[in-house]
Amino acid sequence: MTTTDWKKLESTYYMQVVNRLPLVLVKGKGTIVWDEEGKKYLDFTSGWAVVNLGHSHPAVSNAIKYQVDNIMQMTNLYYTIPQLKLAKLLIDNSCFDRVFFSNSGAEANEGASKLARKWGKEKLDGAYEIITMENSFHGRTLAMMAATGQKEYQEKWQPLPDGFVNVEYNNFEALKKATKKNTCAVLLEVVQGEGGVNVPDHSYLIDVQEWCHQNNILFMVDEVQTGMGRLGTLFGYQKFGLDPDVMVLGKALGAGTPLGAFLCKERFSVLEPGDHGSTFGGNALTTAAGWAALKYIIDTDIPSECSDAGKYLKSMLDGLASRHSNVVDIRGYGLLIGLEISKNKAPEVMNLCLEKGLLINAVRPNTLRLFPPLNVTEGDINKAVAILEEVFVELKI
Ligand SMILES: Cc1ncc(COP(=O)(O)O)c(C=O)c1O
Repeated sequence: MTTTDWKKLESTYYMQVVNRLPLVLVKGKGTIVWDEEGKKYLDFTSGWAVVNLGHSHPAVSNAIKYQVDNIMQMTNLYYTIPQLKLAKLLIDNSCFDRVFFSNSGAEANEGASKLARKWGKEKLDGAYEIITMENSFHGRTLAMMAATGQKEYQEKWQPLPDGFVNVEYNNFEALKKATKKNTCAVLLEVVQGEGGVNVPDHSYLIDVQEWCHQNNILFMVDEVQTGMGRLGTLFGYQKFGLDPDVMVLGKALGAGTPLGAFLCKERFSVLEPGDHGSTFGGNALTTAAGWAALKYIIDTDIPSECSDAGKYLKSMLDGLASRHSNVVDIRGYGLLIGLEISKNKAPEVMNLCLEKGLLINAVRPNTLRLFPPLNVTEGDINKAVAILEEVFVELKI
């Protein structure tokens, strides 16, 4: 079968909910992926902020192979060892005391929202509203569409579940104004990923945290995209010296297997037997992969490798910007970088990069997102920026 045949098969059988790019990928190793015709591409998307150690990392692959040959799945009515090992490793390396595993970021945000509502019910006289931010992204379930402060994700699905209020990001006064008797929590990304790599002021995050603590409402960080080393610290909240009450993880937590989690401080651990559950959530296979990846990330200090690589990438992009006056902003931390241009040409740039062997994302019409594996080499960064340069020249950016 050729790429054209696979594309036809997709358009015949698959629900048409994604405008796919014309690539059929069959193999990945490190920062490289191959299509079925043998052409290789530099993956500066990390499988969407998932394979933070690169594709098919031996630490992860070996853990998965071992687990497949032993036990993959049992009900959570029984104990399985990888789940408990990963729980301990996460708690030992974060400011939290307890964790629950889910299958995705959206589901983990749902769980965190249930925890917040229970907190409100028990401690705040039935308060149930969660304040979230405009331009945020929290997932695709109905409730997470309400939490996601972007009109295009919400309009088609009205009426959305009640209990989420979206306010302007990086605007502390707006948050204060939106806080009512009914508020039980604030949920935000420390850097907004899908919203365009939006970096808030450090003082804003500190103010929000203090405000939540003063009002006894939960300060919850959605680190589905910023967690697991991506910002140059193991978790994004550490980059800003924060001390959140709840953290949500997904994406890179499972290192390519479907795994999410929400974690909380002991004081806020209000869920009881029967309150929450999941058939697959935290099964032996995904948590074995997650444990192997996290152990490797910690033992080899991948976050500082990411921080160095991120600085190098930014310096190379600064160079590019100095030669192309339509680059108006380069932002982000670690290896979550947004490059904004003055024209709405990001999709064109992305498509031409793909043709030339580089995978990046047009996260907004005028903004490109670069988020390669955290162990990307300077050599690969040089190649990626050289391709971008070629594309910028061709498209007169
Ligand atoms: C910050 C954030 N939260 C939640 C999600 C949703 O995660 P999932 O697609 O695993 O449900 C995403 C996905 O991009 C995300 O970036």
